[in-house]
Amino acid sequence: MGDTRLREAAELAIYAPSIFNTQPWQWTVRADTLELRADRTRQLPVVDPDRRLLTLSCGVALHHAVTALSGTPYEVEFMPAAAEPDLLAVVRITGERQTAGDAASRDAIRKRRTDRRPFLRAPIDQDLVAILTSVCERQGALLHVVRWDHVDVLALAAVRAGALQLSNPDYRAELADWTHRPPWSGDGIPLETVPKAVPRRVPVREFAPLGGAGLTTGPDNDWGALYAILYTATDTVHAWLTAGMSLSALLLAATARGLGSAPISDVTEAATTREQLRRLLPAGGFPQIAVRVGYPPVGEPPWTPRRLPSEVITDA
Ligand SMILES: Cc1cc2nc3c(=O)[nH]c(=O)nc-3n(C[C@H](O)[C@H](O)[C@H](O)COP(=O)(O)O)c2cc1C
Repeated sequence: MGDTRLREAAELAIYAPSIFNTQPWQWTVRADTLELRADRTRQLPVVDPDRRLLTLSCGVALHHAVTALSGTPYEVEFMPAAAEPDLLAVVRITGERQTAGDAASRDAIRKRRTDRRPFLRAPIDQDLVAILTSVCERQGALLHVVRWDHVDVLALAAVRAGALQLSNPDYRAELADWTHRPPWSGDGIPLETVPKAVPRRVPVREFAPLGGAGLTTGPDNDWGALYAILYTATDTVHAWLTAGMSLSALLLAATARGLGSAPISDVTEAATTREQLRRLLPAGGFPQIAVRVGYPPVGEPPWTPRRLPSEVITDA
């Protein structure tokens, strides 16, 4: 019989964001450990041929799980079995609950959602930027806030990534598949979460190139948004996992403080645009994903469905 605290952590981790909402993970709850495995059957062969964003998504889910446990002592072992590369991490509880933990981040797990609408003109206070940077860096990746006069480089990279990807029929087929999932699948990106196209500082991924985007936008155009690049010193599976954990920490901290957020990965999917981003970094490093954070317009963006616990959690 699995530990109920670990079972609950796995259930909360279902809310984690993932590339194209593929939810590419499998959890096994044991008496004293929780195992996280990559689910290769959910890889996106065109967008993510190296499984980098699949692994990063698993890192996000792992951080969600340990945030659910926060207050209870635990340890995480990364990739414990060389013979089983898909076993990405094992979480082990090492004692009884000691403190309330980070309740704000835990509560943010259910509240957070990717907000693709343009954010308001109001800028984010520098103290808040410092908090977002430090929560990220505590998980192992680094956060580079894109300078005001470098945002146009990011914008050009986004335009280029969009042109490269949309001119590829295999990409268009993969995109169409994951934006037109049957309602019972509990995965993919519903077009109600995609805003109608409007001019904005950095173009966002076109999820509905043939039309059908349903979300109305507010009056602004991301003028106050913070753009940042999460990067790592190496480009290994472990680095991808830590980038995912850092992304999760950033998104939950932002949500807990009333900020909207949206990951931006198209600019790191093509080698050429990833290189453009790399040149923005202060001391080299490998860009893993970009993110947009800011004050959202009124109203919540719609909720994106998830798979059932029985599809992703096994009690061993
Ligand atoms: C690794 C990764 C890459 C992502 N890339 C993008 C992206 O390029 N554009 C975007 O709008 N959302 C992106 N997302 C957000 C997902 O589409 C979103 O998490 C998923 O559809 C579930 O919706 P939710 O975050 O509202 O729960 C990404 C998320 C992750 C974890």
